[in-house]
Amino acid sequence: MNMPVQKKHAPATLRNREPILAVLKDCLPPHGTILEIASGSGQHASYFIEYLPGNYWQPSDPDSKSRNSISAWWWEVQLNNILPPLDINTRDSTWSIETIKLPQPVTSIVCINMIHISPWESTVGLMEGAARILPKDGILYLYGPYKKDGIHTAPSNELFDIKLRDQNPDWGIRNLNDVKDLAQGNGLIFIKTVEMPANNLSVIFKKTD
Ligand SMILES: C[S@@+](CC[C@H](N)C(=O)[O-])C[C@H]1O[C@@H](n2cnc3c(N)ncnc32)[C@H](O)[C@@H]1O
Repeated sequence: MNMPVQKKHAPATLRNREPILAVLKDCLPPHGTILEIASGSGQHASYFIEYLPGNYWQPSDPDSKSRNSISAWWWEVQLNNILPPLDINTRDSTWSIETIKLPQPVTSIVCINMIHISPWESTVGLMEGAARILPKDGILYLYGPYKKDGIHTAPSNELFDIKLRDQNPDWGIRNLNDVKDLAQGNGLIFIKTVEMPANNLSVIFKKTD
């Protein structure tokens, strides 16, 4: 295979990868395939999996340029427990991962910085997909900024929210309680939040049956 050249750079991944990795090591099952939704550049995938031995990492993104970038970052590490990126849009009623054979079953889903940078329907689809795909005790891990009880947790988040809505009125920082309610309606129980740098949260759910 020739080296893919379309590598994207997301500077925030270099700042948030260590704190996120610490939470992932603590909450993800030790074995299985970790499905990453909205992998973007692919920098997280190539970094995290080295520290999560025993797992496979399945990156995905609906954007073809992002999938090329994921492959380009993979080229740098050439780890055989990162699987080729899939075209997954959470809004689709079935996801491509449901029709392919994986080296190990999916035991967790990781979704970083998608919920506020996409319409609410993407989060609805994410929860419905997690309900279909995760086994009992499977983990759904979310990362990003959230409002608590409808209130922004920092002035910088409030400004960010305004910028997001200017870009697209269907985007915006979500209410944590709305995300929890949606998860619960799909059989995912809320486990905990972990405060992260720059006023972000890790939010962890577990599939009940
Ligand atoms: C801000 S980027 C985050 C990328 C990466 N997780 C990170 O933290 O750098 C948001 C990503 O969400 C993806 N995305 C948007 N809507 C989506 C959907 N409905 N299903 C899956 N991915 C989606 C976009 O293609 C984009 O790559």
